[in-house]
Order: sequence, then C-alpha cells, then structure tokens
Amino acid sequence: MTSKPTNQIIVEAKPASFAPGGALTGRTTVPGDKSISHRSLILSALAVGKSQIAGLLEGEDVLATAAALRAMGATIEKKGDIWTVHGVGVGGLMQPDTAIDLGNSGTSVRLLMGLVASHDISVTFTGDASLSRRPMGRVIDPLSDMGAEFTARMSSDGKACLPLAVRGLCPAVPIEYRLPVASAQVKSAILLAGLNTPGVTRVIEPVPTRDHSETMLKGFGADLTVETDKEDSRIISLTGEAELSPQKIKVPGDPSSAAFPVVAALLVPGSDIVVENVGINPTRAGLFTILQQMGGDISFKKKRTVGGEPVADIHVKHSKLTGIDVPAEVAPSMIDEFPVLFIAAALAEGTTTTSGLHELRIKESDRLSQMAEGLRVLGVELTEKEDGLIITGSGGEPLSGGSNMSAIETALDHRIAMSFAVAGLVTASGLTIDDITPAETSFPGFADLMKALAS
Ligand code: S3P
Repeated sequence: MTSKPTNQIIVEAKPASFAPGGALTGRTTVPGDKSISHRSLILSALAVGKSQIAGLLEGEDVLATAAALRAMGATIEKKGDIWTVHGVGVGGLMQPDTAIDLGNSGTSVRLLMGLVASHDISVTFTGDASLSRRPMGRVIDPLSDMGAEFTARMSSDGKACLPLAVRGLCPAVPIEYRLPVASAQVKSAILLAGLNTPGVTRVIEPVPTRDHSETMLKGFGADLTVETDKEDSRIISLTGEAELSPQKIKVPGDPSSAAFPVVAALLVPGSDIVVENVGINPTRAGLFTILQQMGGDISFKKKRTVGGEPVADIHVKHSKLTGIDVPAEVAPSMIDEFPVLFIAAALAEGTTTTSGLHELRIKESDRLSQMAEGLRVLGVELTEKEDGLIITGSGGEPLSGGSNMSAIETALDHRIAMSFAVAGLVTASGLTIDDITPAETSFPGFADLMKALAS
C-alpha cells in the first residue's frame, strides 16, 4: 500500500469500493474550480489590500497554494464561507523561512515558480512522489530567459524535476515567448513573472488553453491585451510593474469535477440530475460537447456570467452513447477529462478513438497507461497508442468486476481514482480502487456526493 505525503502529513492509502446502486437523481453542486481558486489566491496575494473569495475550492492542491503564499508574507484567513486575503502588492513577496511542500499540485508549483522568478527571493519547492516525477523544464526555460536561476534534481531520463530551487531576479527581463506546448500553466507562470517585470511581457499561444489567468488579471486591473494573428495564435501582452486592486471573487463550480457526476448520470439507467453553478468557459467545456456528440442528453440551463466566467446549471439524463473519433484539436479544452471520457467510451456502442494526448502521459500519473491498465482489468477491449486510446465499448452492457478482481491502481492520481469510481457504478458486481484519498486534492466529499445522488 502506498502512502501519500502532503504538507508534511503522511496520509495512508484508503481502498474504496464502488458498486451499482440506484439511478442518480436530484440536484447537486460541485466544489469550486481548481484553476480559478489557485489564481484567486495568487492575484489576491499580489493586490494592495483586502480581497474576498467565495466558493474557493478547499482541496489539498489549493490549500497548498494558500500555505505557500502565507509563507511568502500574505495573510490568508477563512471566516464562515469567505476567504479573506490581505495582499502584499506586486513585488512584495518575502523570503520564506523553509522549503515549500506543494504536495500533488502541478498548478501550484508551476504558477508559484513564475511568481518567485521576478522577486528578489530564493525558494525551494518539494512535492509528493507524483509531483516529483513531473517535468519542470517547460517552466524553467522561459523563466531562465527572464533572468531567474534554477537548481533542479535531474531525473534518470534527464528531466528537471522537484526538488527544485528558484533564485528570482528583480528587476527581471521581459520576454516574448511562443509556447512550444499547449499549457496554461506555462502561460500563467510567464504572465505572473511579468507582473513584477518592467516593460511588456508577451506570450504567444498557437493553440488556445484555459484563459482564466487573462480574465482574472484584467479583473484585478492589470494592463493586459489579447490579439489574434494571421495564424490564429493568441498574443497576450502584459505591461509589468502593475498595481492590482483587491477584488471580491465568486469561484464557480469546477467543470472538471462536474464531469464525474455528469458521466455517471449518462451511464446509469434511469438517471436524471442537475449540477448547479458549473463553469462552462469554452476553453474548459470540451468534454460536454464531445459527450453530446456521442448522444448524451446534456443541456445548459440559466446561462450567466459570474466574475467574467460563463456559468450554467447542467441537466443530464441517462443516454445511449455511441463511439466517435475525438479530434486532437479539442484536447486542450478537456485535457483533464479524458480519464472519465474513457469510462464513457467503455460503455458506448462502437469504437471511440482519441489522439494528440501525449500530455496525458505527464500529468499526475501517466493517464493513458493507467487508464488502459484499469480498463483491461474490467474486460474492456482497447488499444493503447503513444498518443491516445482506442476503446471498443460494451454498448451499455455492465463491465466485468467483482470481489475476486484485483484492486485498480490509482497511482496518486485523483482523476484516475474518480474515473474508476464512476466505472464501478456500471460493473456487474462492483470494483475496488486501491486508494480514494487522492480525490481530496480536487474534489473533497466526492464519494459522499456520488452516494447522495444514488439514494
Ligand atoms: C491547469 C492547466 C492544465 C491542467 C491542470 C490545471 C491550470 O495543465 O491539466 O490540471 O490551472 O492552469 P497544462 O496547462 O499543463 O496543460
């Protein structure tokens, strides 16, 4: 059994079983958006004065960002349901006394590396076994061009990984950087470094990725423009040495978390649910479109805008799904949702093909091989390619499962754990995953919420 170190606390792995129950019915909400929660804390910590955040995700990843910002001088407190952040101003972060442990959170480490890069401080970042395997070169390269210095552990295959020390430079050098991989984390790290850098920092994004950083930077008063060039690349220009004004922020429900009850309701016969207050930003909502194309009965009610972000209540009914070819171009808009899409594909009629998913191999786990391995345990017919899975679905027949089956490995990956929890609802006689605790990183209360929908 593995154990999971987070913020110095050892969490023992907790196996959990999921078996077919009743139809999923009723209304529910999911916790706040993880990406928006990280950014709310970070930008509030850089504003001058007091910001207030409602709906913040209180998952381990976001709490790791909060702890890191506190260690660098911001005051962050929770009263009732509201989080209050007293910011230190752009350029005001202080030298932390100790190394900062970011647990499982790739977003925390990459965004905070950007933040530190243009401050005159040195910070050492550590993480759990999963985070320590993930490549950091993609952030180190542009931030080094801005003048920051890095010392990182090199993995056996030559990648710069945690533990990692950053020595920031103030004033840093503004850069123009064309993203070699579609990564909102890399884009955001550069923009955050640019906030405390004189002149204009520019990021060119050939393939659009989630745009929460741009939206929120503008909301806090930064001078940021987005243009599109002849090739349809987005050119994001940020004028540095900004002064950010404190804000009141409402974080919408996370579409990446809503994905689990949505897919479960599509797959379990008789289900009819509404997930209220979910972010449906087009840079995030690819899964819902693909599921609709597979025949999923998903509709968006009460569409509205909250804090610059599109939000809706999502109504989902059990549907017969048909396999499709998922175009590689949609990958960035549903990059975290492929594990649960693979479960939907395993129950669809016919074959679902995915491609262009190299990035999935370097998420919290190698999500292509981890999903392929678990689906094979459930008797699903599939081919694992270098950049995707080809899955032949059961046409709605329950997947195999049962007490004599080995526990499905989740590899410290919250989305693998929750995807197989959904699969358990559509097996013949249930399944066990080796560890449900990773769900706490992004979706506290996941198992209880799923149970409540089925009762
Ligand atoms: C995130 C961006 C995505 C996503 C991650 C959160 C963010 O990563 O997978 O869970 O908040 O910016 P990449 O930008 O590296 O694709």
